[in-house]
Amino acid sequence: MGIRIAGTGSYLPEKIRTNAEIEKLVDTNDEWIRTRTGIEERRIAAADETASTMAIQAAEKALATAGVDGRDLDAIVLATISPDYIFPNTAALIQHHFQCRQAFCFDLSAACAGFVSSLEVGFSLMRSFPQKYRNVLVCGSDKLSVIVDWTDRNTCILFGDGAGCAVLQNDGSDAPDSILASSLHADGGYTDVLRITAGGSYMPASIESVQGRKHFVYMEGRETFKLAVNGMVSSSEEVLAQAGITIDQVALVIPHQANLRIMQAVAKRLGIGEDRVFCNIQRYGNTSSASIGIALDEACRSGRIKRGDLVLFTSFGGGLAWGSILIRY
Ligand code: ACO
Repeated sequence: MGIRIAGTGSYLPEKIRTNAEIEKLVDTNDEWIRTRTGIEERRIAAADETASTMAIQAAEKALATAGVDGRDLDAIVLATISPDYIFPNTAALIQHHFQCRQAFCFDLSAACAGFVSSLEVGFSLMRSFPQKYRNVLVCGSDKLSVIVDWTDRNTCILFGDGAGCAVLQNDGSDAPDSILASSLHADGGYTDVLRITAGGSYMPASIESVQGRKHFVYMEGRETFKLAVNGMVSSSEEVLAQAGITIDQVALVIPHQANLRIMQAVAKRLGIGEDRVFCNIQRYGNTSSASIGIALDEACRSGRIKRGDLVLFTSFGGGLAWGSILIRY
């Protein structure tokens, strides 16, 4: 069918928040943050920037690279855990911007596994209905700075804002699809480890929920760390086995940017040198749904990956949701 990633784009807000600035907010220090996470700074969106505005900026670049007019998009799949509104969905706001009136749009919630999930769904739509979906925009966009508790040193040091997008295109040729194998998982039994408690039907907003800081990210870091390494390694091994290739054949692994130590542990267990693992966490922290999309765009634009290369995405996040996708770029 010839479905491929025709273009990528990313957007990072201008404002930088360094570790030194976070030292003024909570009892932490630059050295602790660098050695435990690898993070040096992260981006913070402006008051008038949202998940949709950041995704639109990233999408404009992806569409320009792909040579696709935004009006010709047939579907928009947006991964986010910080949507502009509970409803309407944020993808519909992107649709309105590009005036692609025919496009099917929806949001997808898979936290840090958001970008790989939107990629899987976008490809699946195109494979299932090739006549209907020829140009599909997949995005991850998160404004985590508004759902992070800036008084909680366990979490606030980790996160940042940004968006990453890819335009998937079916060129109608006999070329094989880009996705060679995928393995996505979920386990809803871990809400005590990673969640935002309030704001949904479980705990609607109230004075108590606000005073109890229940609208912010809650995370058991140590437990999440172990689960993340195991989930990323096992799902990576599953896709390599499905595709019948070895890790030596993979040009670049693009992991979710959760923690430098997680990425190093994953690289070690997969038996791949750190030089073949993409890492930009130093500059952006963890941007959740957006992180793999941003990393993919930077890898493409910097020449770290070339057409024909095998690229492995691997992710892990709240849900729990985790998984890997192997593509031939
Ligand atoms: N500054 C200084 N000290 C700190 C800080 C901080 N910011 N945060 C915690 N500490 C202290 C702790 O209180 C603890 O002190 P104690 O030993 O006296 O109790 C000590 O440092 C060690 O704490 P740990 O939690 O064991 O630190 P760890 O090395 O595990 O690092 C971290 C914490 C960075 C959160 C790590 O566990 C991690 O990266 N976890 C995974 C995150 C992740 O992958 N999230 C998934 C996606 S998020 C999503 O889906 C939205």
